[in-house]
Amino acid sequence: MKQSLITALILCSISWISVSSSESHTETVEGRPGGEVTLTCSNPSIRDTPTFWLRVFNRTKASWISTMTGSTGKPLYSNGIQNGRFNMSTNISTLSLQIKHVDVSDSGLYLCGFYIEGRYDFSAIHLNV
Ligand SMILES: *[C@@H]1O[C@H](CO)[C@@H](O)[C@H](O)[C@H]1NC(C)=O
Ligand SMILES: *[C@@H]1O[C@H](CO)[C@@H](O)[C@H](O)[C@H]1NC(C)=O
Ligand SMILES: *[C@@H]1O[C@H](CO)[C@@H](O)[C@H](O)[C@H]1NC(C)=O
Repeated sequence: MKQSLITALILCSISWISVSSSESHTETVEGRPGGEVTLTCSNPSIRDTPTFWLRVFNRTKASWISTMTGSTGKPLYSNGIQNGRFNMSTNISTLSLQIKHVDVSDSGLYLCGFYIEGRYDFSAIHLNV
């Protein structure tokens, strides 16, 4: 899994420029400071696959937020965000990332990823607080 993640991060940093260029077509979620938002992605497959969330910083850096190896496992969170504000969950068909007490600084581009049969499938969501 660690290997997959590293590969994902590399692929992400390579491919993210194309994500950025299609940003105008990206779904936008609006949040209010202090409120709560939920980012969701549809699983492009019907499988219970490993999933993860990434965030893009400063248009050039991707950083890992969280991973679930399957729908029944516990999510694993990045050290930097183990503050209980983030809650990743999935029911296989829909992957969610709930963020509590959002702040203006949470605004930006988030990527959800699905690892399906050796390939990574990413979707981008723009959070606007
Ligand atoms: C993004 O850029 C700002 C300003 O240059 C910097 O302070 C911040 O550390 C950068 N964030 C990351 C995650 O690199
Ligand atoms: C996280 O979300 C799941 C699914 O919505 C929910 O069952 C769980 O109680 C939530 N956990 C926390 C700590 O909010
Ligand atoms: C999964 O969750 C989504 C969003 O909460 C919901 O729309 C969908 O019906 C759920 N699917 C299943 C199979 O429970």
